[in-house]
Amino acid sequence: MIANDVKDILISREELAEKCKELGAKISKDYEGKELVLVGILKGSVVFMTDLMKEITIPCNIEFMEVSSYGSGAESSGVVKIIKDLDEDVTGKHILIVEDIIDTGLTLSYLVEYLKARKAAGTDIVCLLNKKERRVRDIPVTYVGFEVPDEFIIGYGIDYAEKYRNLPYVASLKDEVYKK
Ligand code: PRP
Ligand code: MN
Ligand code: MG
Repeated sequence: MIANDVKDILISREELAEKCKELGAKISKDYEGKELVLVGILKGSVVFMTDLMKEITIPCNIEFMEVSSYGSGAESSGVVKIIKDLDEDVTGKHILIVEDIIDTGLTLSYLVEYLKARKAAGTDIVCLLNKKERRVRDIPVTYVGFEVPDEFIIGYGIDYAEKYRNLPYVASLKDEVYKK
């Protein structure tokens, strides 16, 4: 059972559902009358993306990008490789990047820079979880769901070594699982 590796449940499925409703309502109001494109960043954002989009009541397109950090070192270099790019032309449209968690901020700061060349009307970010203590690159996040402590976070799309993405809540991982 993957739940055996959970240290603490930090955010319950009810709280996550409530937050998606709240963010969906705000986004629907803020982008009313605009051409909105939700861009989910694979793989971590899939669960949040699917729950959030159901709470958005205005027309929107969805896209996915997949990125990976260059190099094999444990620390991210801040240069990310685009594995899957956008399919549609976003010229004049409003991009809203949908992310699960911001840690150092390196992934998102690279992506925002990269997407500037696409001549979108704007590039905003909705991020479910914010781990502030680890930030090395300051990035303006338009909507944040929850602040999380500097723990190993898993669940609701977020993995450790590709596992635990299917937990229906956000949790911390027991130290002995990743420190052995
Ligand atoms: C994780 C997470 C964010 C990124 C945050 O993705 O989903 O995308 O790291 O880290 P940063 O702020 O330090 O850049 P990961 O690269 O593990 O890929 P995944 O989404 O496929 O798990
Ligand atoms: Mn990710
Ligand atoms: Mg990961």
